[in-house]
Amino acid sequence: MGHIPLHRRFHFLRESIRDLRSTGSVAPSSRFLCRAMVSKIDPDQANVVVELGPGDGVITRFLLERMRPDTRLLLFEVNHVFVKKIRAAFDDPRLTIIHDSAENMGAHFREQGIETVDYFVSAIPFMSLPESLIARITCRCNDWLRAGGRFIQFHYSPLLLPFYRRVFGPVAVEWVPFNIPPAIVISCEKRSL
Ligand SMILES: C[S@@+](CC[C@H](N)C(=O)[O-])C[C@H]1O[C@@H](n2cnc3c(N)ncnc32)[C@H](O)[C@@H]1O
Repeated sequence: MGHIPLHRRFHFLRESIRDLRSTGSVAPSSRFLCRAMVSKIDPDQANVVVELGPGDGVITRFLLERMRPDTRLLLFEVNHVFVKKIRAAFDDPRLTIIHDSAENMGAHFREQGIETVDYFVSAIPFMSLPESLIARITCRCNDWLRAGGRFIQFHYSPLLLPFYRRVFGPVAVEWVPFNIPPAIVISCEKRSL
């Protein structure tokens, strides 16, 4: 966890204080949590990966390392300060940065010529958002996932597990103790129709 430079921790904390409800955390994810998230991705099966709520891009970096040279990565981020940071930090032709809420994913996918998504990797703090918004975003993810694709999300508590089971069916859970605070990674596979 000590690898995140102090200035990045400070910038993240400043954005959290400005809008804790949508940032949902006071520190970026640890490398242990980032690795646990991206380990659920099979690079051979990943043609289109979508990251929701990248913040300053801590998980994005791990995703780009894991992805093939021809895999596309689309990011949805609502916070303009984080969007600016990501645009400055990454220069990668696989990346498309979208400054909009994840609930509007459909319009952007159509514009980008995307027909299905193989993996959603989400850090959106659903625990602090209205239930109707959580339902809209997760149902849209389920609609856009190909059969066998995965929705991957982290949380600091298991409270929403029953909700994910209702949307996606069976949910796999991995505990990640080395994070502030300790987290769980949930992974849901889209069922065949
Ligand atoms: C807990 S931070 C995660 C940041 C980073 N991915 C990490 O793991 O440290 C949550 C991020 O979700 C973003 N966010 C919140 N609501 C969103 C929405 N509806 N669509 C896209 N991003 C959203 C916030 O702006 C914030 O950057």
